[in-house]
Amino acid sequence: MKILCVCLSPTIQRTITFDSFNTGKVNRSQIWREDASGKALNAARVLNQLEPGSSVALCPVGNANAEHFMILASNDTNLYVTPIYIEGNTRECWTILDKTGKTTTEVISDELQNPLHIAGAEAELKLLEFVRKDMMVCDALLFAGSRPSNWSANICGRICDVAKKAGKTILADFRGEDLLTTLKVCTPDIIKLNETEFCQTFIGKSLSEDELVSEISKKSAELKNIIVVTRGTKDTLSADNGKAYRTPIENITAINTTGCGDTFDAGFLNNYLNNKDMESALKAGTHCAALNAQTIVPGSINL
Ligand SMILES: Nc1ncnc2c1ncn2[C@@H]1O[C@H](COP(=O)(O)OP(=O)(O)OP(=O)(O)O)[C@@H](O)[C@H]1O
Ligand SMILES: [Mg+2]
Repeated sequence: MKILCVCLSPTIQRTITFDSFNTGKVNRSQIWREDASGKALNAARVLNQLEPGSSVALCPVGNANAEHFMILASNDTNLYVTPIYIEGNTRECWTILDKTGKTTTEVISDELQNPLHIAGAEAELKLLEFVRKDMMVCDALLFAGSRPSNWSANICGRICDVAKKAGKTILADFRGEDLLTTLKVCTPDIIKLNETEFCQTFIGKSLSEDELVSEISKKSAELKNIIVVTRGTKDTLSADNGKAYRTPIENITAINTTGCGDTFDAGFLNNYLNNKDMESALKAGTHCAALNAQTIVPGSINL
């Protein structure tokens, strides 16, 4: 099995652990690590942990800190990243783990919105060309994460369309206008969102649990696909061609929940491609996500 993971917003991810973290005070960390990360990169790492060699990743990398990012990527034995070099910085994120408060806090410096960071038509064509080539040898496309505003509004649909035309399975984990625009071009076989993302994208307001179950089924029947909505520590709600499923999460002690959604994507897609069975894929996604929550690494199932 081979899966292409595309990520338009990779990050240099710093995970910093504190015995106790206090805002407005000087905080000195106990443990510190740095990873090449971003949603589809996290998923790519987990896919390779599940089945070595089963994923490749494709992402834009800002020239300003490209060397740093690529060193992190190449130090990671479970990541194979093809970079598309563009102007500006690769985004940096910090995850603050507070052992006393038992909290995961994410801090994102949104440098991607910097007008100096220009993707440009050339980078877009290059990326689409790589997707086209990779789709010849891959079974599926896993496309996760947000689109920086300096990429064309229709780029997500164009990327998915390449995979669709090649007859490959698509898992889409991105929300809002990008997803709605994509749906005008082609329908991803699997859409995985969290509750807020599903409600914002398709409904425009939050829903009661009963309403949510019904809306997920309705949307999945309409799109004739699989829609999975994860909800943090609450049961995952999903539907396959309108048929509803409910999956409880695993009861574990979480250390770092960063990348749980991306890890779910990887576990679900790997299992789905192997078995084409909804129950089994939901269980696998849930188990991988629970393993990730127990590691300090964002997007990893290696305890
Ligand atoms: N504290 C936890 N304990 C056990 N499992 C968890 C915990 N937090 C998250 N998970 C697992 O991870 C899955 C995905 O989590 P969540 O719904 O928060 O994803 P997300 O919002 O898409 O996350 P991301 O920020 O990675 O995109 C959940 O459905 C659950 O299975
Ligand atoms: Mg998510």
